[in-house]
Amino acid sequence: MWTMSAGVTRTRLWRLSQRRRRMTLLLHVISAGAWIGIDVVVAVLVLTGWFAADVDVRSLAYRALAEFVVWPMLASGLVCLATGVLLGVGTKWGLVRYRWVAVKLVLNLVLCTLIVVVLQPGMDAVGTYGEHLLTGTPSSSRVRTLFFPPAVSLSTLTFATALAIYKPWGRLRRSTRRADS
Ligand code: HEM
Repeated sequence: MWTMSAGVTRTRLWRLSQRRRRMTLLLHVISAGAWIGIDVVVAVLVLTGWFAADVDVRSLAYRALAEFVVWPMLASGLVCLATGVLLGVGTKWGLVRYRWVAVKLVLNLVLCTLIVVVLQPGMDAVGTYGEHLLTGTPSSSRVRTLFFPPAVSLSTLTFATALAIYKPWGRLRRSTRRADS
């Protein structure tokens, strides 16, 4: 605990050292970038599945979506969440001290939940649709709504990146208290 000049005291909790903060921030930014990159790949695969002239290419796009996308996306989302929480708890920003951090926390949690609850369960059907394209018997309508996940995720992650850079809206609650209270 230390006393600030205006008679305000603040309890100093655990803090990341400068070196660890930088390493955590590096991992945080890399995982956020990887997450955005995976979303771009998903958008490209969905558009390929919809519009490619060659049915083999369309089939491959759907099978690749079903096979390779969800787990790397979830992994980068969870690393981003874990490093973000570490940065929040271990720096002056706090976890729910500033609005921009609290909003990013909620957005990250919502996106990770959507990956597990909405995206992942539909992937088998997408892979099967890709296989059936080759035999001429596609029967799933799920692929029509496939563009929503990357569109929602990309715009949310862009917003979260903008929050990280501009840090708007100030404090959510005061973490200081009067020495005489
Ligand atoms: C939703 C996905 C997220 C994205 C795309 C993202 C992106 C970023 C980026 C690009 C920075 C670097 C900004 C800069 O140095 O100017 C950053 C910093 C930061 N992020 Fe995130 N973030 C995300 C989630 C989170 C979460 C969940 C938290 C905490 C609950 C968090 C807390 C922080 C903090 C505290 C910093 C500042 C670290 C410092 O300067 O010491 N972020 N974020």
